[in-house]
Amino acid sequence: MMYELLNFKVRGDHTGNLVALEQGTDFPFDIKRVYYIWGTDRDAIRGRHAHRNLEQVIVCTSGSCDFILDDGHERVTVHLDNPAVGLHIKSNIWREFTNFSPDCVVMVLASEHYDESDYIRDYEQFKTEIAK
Ligand code: TYD
Repeated sequence: MMYELLNFKVRGDHTGNLVALEQGTDFPFDIKRVYYIWGTDRDAIRGRHAHRNLEQVIVCTSGSCDFILDDGHERVTVHLDNPAVGLHIKSNIWREFTNFSPDCVVMVLASEHYDESDYIRDYEQFKTEIAK
């Protein structure tokens, strides 16, 4: 399975909505790092890498964007536009994200600290590594 979509519990009423992500109960891994991305041009393409070990849950907390996921055999596009949904991606999946709405904010919850050696930034290298 290339990815799974997590439907978070929403605590909502007439004053608005709240999602709480708590380690051990609502979440598939221990969160070591959170980062977020905004101010992206619609046609910008971010990502263009895979991770050797990292797991991530990606939430589009505002607006929308498309995640293109590739396991070396097939490519799928996942449209994210709901802050109550998390895109869970495990290791060894090539990802690119694009088609950003002007108000898009992408929040990423990651299972490890930042480590450049965990990145595979070359697509041919990715294909070589997953074939092993
Ligand atoms: P990168 O992961 O390439 O961004 P994206 O996948 O969204 O296109 O990261 C962009 C830059 O930010 C790069 O120089 C590495 C740095 N960076 C950190 O220092 N810490 C982090 O946690 C992340 C995700 C990136």
